[in-house]
Amino acid sequence: MAIAFTETQQPDTALLYDLYKSMGLETGGIDNALFSLKAADGNILAGGATLSERYGVAVLDYVAVIPEYRNLNIGRALVEKVLEKAGELNFDEVFFVTKVEGFFKKLGAVPTDEHKELISECIGCRQYMAECRPVLMKMKVN
Ligand SMILES: CC(C)(COP(=O)(O)OP(=O)(O)OC[C@H]1O[C@@H](n2cnc3c(N)ncnc32)[C@H](O)[C@@H]1OP(=O)(O)O)[C@@H](O)C(=O)NCCC(=O)NCCS
Repeated sequence: MAIAFTETQQPDTALLYDLYKSMGLETGGIDNALFSLKAADGNILAGGATLSERYGVAVLDYVAVIPEYRNLNIGRALVEKVLEKAGELNFDEVFFVTKVEGFFKKLGAVPTDEHKELISECIGCRQYMAECRPVLMKMKVN
């Protein structure tokens, strides 16, 4: 298996957004996407990540890996590559709302009270505080 990490172009960008939605990751955030990265194994879209800008800050509007490719460090590599590109765009930090606090803590993220408007985006979602108890976190860009 050889995973290639590259920036997406259409139609892969749309396929990536479908993948996020299939995992229950849905807000309107990706309308403001700066870029998306994909992790591909040949023609298989194994995962991806999207960086957006809202409220004047960089927002990770998801990272996702399809179940067959999990626990291979693809998610970690995607987040690291997003942070690298965010640095090139002169962001010092990346914010996000997530259900997988443990995954992001391993990558150095910390919970934050800054930019609570990001978590308020969840309020209209039917999963909010039912099966989803999201956490607002941030990561430093090195
Ligand atoms: C969360 C997700 C992206 C992880 O992707 P992955 O490629 O399997 O993760 P990695 O293999 O890079 O894992 C990196 C580390 O995090 C750990 N980890 C992975 N998923 C985890 C989880 N759900 N909770 C806690 N730790 C987790 C791994 O064990 C690994 O730890 P290690 O370095 O000690 O071995 C993937 O499970 C996923 O797509 N989930 C559904 C979508 C989602 O919730 N995305 C986040 C929304 S922003």
